[in-house]
Amino acid sequence: MIKQSLFSLSTLLLVLFLFHCTTTSAQPAQAPAPPGPTNVTKILEKAGQFTVLIRLLKSTKVGDQINQQLNDSNNGLTLFAPTDNAFSSLKSGTLNALTDQQKVQLIQFHILPNFLSLTNFQTVSNPVRTQAGDTGPGEFPLNVTTSGNQVNVSSGLVNTTVGGSVYSDNQLAVYQVDSVLLPQDIFAPKPPAPAPAPAQPKAKTKKKTADSPAADATDNESGALSLTARNGMLVSIGFAVIAALCL
Ligand SMILES: *[C@@H]1O[C@H](CO)[C@@H](O)[C@H](O)[C@H]1NC(C)=O
Ligand SMILES: *[C@@H]1O[C@H](CO)[C@@H](O)[C@H](O)[C@H]1NC(C)=O
Ligand SMILES: *[C@@H]1O[C@H](CO)[C@@H](O)[C@H](O)[C@H]1NC(C)=O
Ligand SMILES: *[C@@H]1O[C@H](CO)[C@@H](O)[C@H](O)[C@H]1NC(C)=O
Ligand SMILES: *[C@@H]1O[C@H](CO)[C@@H](O)[C@H](O)[C@H]1NC(C)=O
Ligand SMILES: *[C@@H]1O[C@H](CO)[C@@H](O)[C@H](O)[C@H]1NC(C)=O
Repeated sequence: MIKQSLFSLSTLLLVLFLFHCTTTSAQPAQAPAPPGPTNVTKILEKAGQFTVLIRLLKSTKVGDQINQQLNDSNNGLTLFAPTDNAFSSLKSGTLNALTDQQKVQLIQFHILPNFLSLTNFQTVSNPVRTQAGDTGPGEFPLNVTTSGNQVNVSSGLVNTTVGGSVYSDNQLAVYQVDSVLLPQDIFAPKPPAPAPAPAQPKAKTKKKTADSPAADATDNESGALSLTARNGMLVSIGFAVIAALCL
C-alpha cells in the first residue's frame, strides 16, 4: 500500500518535472513520419486471417525489423505467413512453451532475406537460408522443392505447399502457408548434451519454471503488482537523478 502510493506520488512528480523540463527547453515539434515505408503488419491486417502472426510480429518486434530492413536494403524480403488456422492446428500450448528468444527465431524462420517471386523458387539451392540463421541439420534448415508453379517447403518436421501470394511489390513478397514451419532447432528432440549445461529448461509446469517478466500471458496480477512496486522505487531514484542533473 505504502509502496503503491509512493509509486503514484513519484510518477506524478516525474511527469510534472518532465513537463517542466520539456516546456523550458522548448523542443521543436517532431515532424510526422514520412509517408510510404512498407508496413508488414498493415499488409497482413488488410489480408485478414493472420491475427496470430501479427500478434507475434508485434510482441517479438520482428515486424519492426522487417520494416526497417525493407527501408535499409535493396534485397527485399520474403515472408511465409502462416494463417490463423495454421497456428490453431498446432498442439495446444506450443507457443506458450517457447521462450521469447525461441518466438523470435520461429518468426525469423519464416523470413527469407531476399525477395523471391514464385518462379524464383525454382532456382534456389537447398537448404535455403532464413533469418533464423544456421541451416545445418538440427538447426534451421529449410528446403524448397518446386514443380511448375507448385512450391513446397520443408523444415524436416513440417512439409507444406506454399499457398497464394498475399502481397508482392518487388521488395516484399508475402505467401500464405497453411502450416507453421517448425524449425528443428526448437522442435526436434535433441540428443542429451554431454556437457552439464542445461541448454533448454523444458517448461514442465507453468508454476515450477518461474516465468521471466517478459513472458506473455502467464504473468500474474500479484507478480505484476510487485514489479510495479519495484518500478516505483526505480522511478523515484530516476527522478532524483534527473532532478540533480537538471537543476
Ligand atoms: C504499421 O501498421 C500498424 C497497423 O495498421 C500500426 O499499428 C503501426 O503503427 C504501423 N507502424 C508504423 C511504423 O507505421
Ligand atoms: C529509411 O531510409 C532512409 C535512407 O535510406 C532514411 O533517411 C530514413 O530515416 C529511413 N526511415 C526509417 C523509418 O527508418
Ligand atoms: C508438394 O507436396 C505435395 C503434397 O505433399 C505433393 O503431392 C507434391 O508432389 C509436392 N510437390 C513438390 C514439387 O515437391
Ligand atoms: C534439404 O536438402 C539437403 C540437400 O538436398 C539435404 O541434405 C537435407 O537433408 C534436406 N533437409 C531437409 C530438412 O529436408
Ligand atoms: C516431408 O517430405 C519428405 C520428402 O520430400 C519426406 O521424406 C518426409 O518424410 C516428409 N516429412 C513429413 C514430416 O511429412
Ligand atoms: C498467481 O498468484 C496467486 C496468488 O499470489 C498464486 O497463488 C498463483 O500461484 C499465481 N499463479 C501463477 C500462474 O503464477
